[in-house]
Amino acid sequence: MAKQELKDLDWKKLGFNYRDLPYSFDEKFSDGKWQGGKLTEDSSLTLSEGAEVLHYGQEVFEGLKAYRTKDNKVQLFRPYENAKRLNHSARRLAMQEYPEDKFVDAVKQVVKANEDFVPPYGSGGTLYIRPFMIGTTPVVGVTPADEYEFHIYATPVGAYIAGLTPVAFRVSEYDRAAGAGTGTAKTSGNYASSLLPEVEAKKGGFADNLYLDPREHKYIDEFGGANFFGITKDGQFITPKSDSILPSITKRSILQIAKDMGLNPIETKIPIDDLDNIAEAGAMGTAAVISPVGSLTYKGKKHVFYSETKTGPVSTKLYNALFKIQTGDAEDKYGWIEPVD
Ligand code: PLP
Ligand code: COI
Repeated sequence: MAKQELKDLDWKKLGFNYRDLPYSFDEKFSDGKWQGGKLTEDSSLTLSEGAEVLHYGQEVFEGLKAYRTKDNKVQLFRPYENAKRLNHSARRLAMQEYPEDKFVDAVKQVVKANEDFVPPYGSGGTLYIRPFMIGTTPVVGVTPADEYEFHIYATPVGAYIAGLTPVAFRVSEYDRAAGAGTGTAKTSGNYASSLLPEVEAKKGGFADNLYLDPREHKYIDEFGGANFFGITKDGQFITPKSDSILPSITKRSILQIAKDMGLNPIETKIPIDDLDNIAEAGAMGTAAVISPVGSLTYKGKKHVFYSETKTGPVSTKLYNALFKIQTGDAEDKYGWIEPVD
């Protein structure tokens, strides 16, 4: 694949696509230790046909963004949380852990090396960073690898779902991940199981699926690529408490912001039959930021929350509060920002 040329980019029309940037980062684990990582211009990986990841899915990944500020600096949002979650996922998949400080340092190296590709302030674009780790040992029996590869690529992106425009979602009849399975890990298998549901949702005109808890199919779990939140009719911020959803860093940040806004936020079981109690609903995640749910179709019945075309006032307020911190327009009073310099 050809390297992305800067001159061919239109910052306003980035979409959410992979682009091959000049630099990636790579480090291998063998003989019981990480062998030293470095930036590389090689954006391809070479694997044995027997590599663990190809057969038994030993893969974990992260997603975070670099933001351009008004004074042209570049900053990250809570990268140590991604480092910690990568290792949480790695433990569930019986993989090596990657040292947290090295993770953040490697992310910074990739951002710095590709700095020209961090979209300008005000363009709505950001640099999406994708660290991941795979088991590379050739295997045929089901047993963990003892060699691993940690790699990071970056790609400039625009909105993941539709930005702050409400879209239609549906409740999926499929399950995505199980609580005692890999529900809280960010691992490719959870996304593989969401692909067919996603294709079917798109065919039906929906942006994505909302999954229910896999035990009883009674409670809201999360979207294919983001956590769920609602604002109840009496103004409380609610988000699912579940062991089969990804512990979202955006969610945790919004819980803090919502608390300071007096929204009395709670993580709780949200029955799918209680939608009438919710005035506004949205998806939240690194890629999605906050994406309002215009409508949610469940068992063939369409439920509209605030409006199918307008974003609710509380969702708008939360979006602005979060995005202003991320882009340096609001004071970082929680200590969430990590400069890249
Ligand atoms: N849930 C799923 C399934 C995701 O893929 C993501 C994206 O990372 C999230 C939730 C949101 O997590 P975060 O806010 O840490 O990006
Ligand atoms: C993210 O928000 O970082 C994700 O990993 C979601 C992904 C489906 C794009």
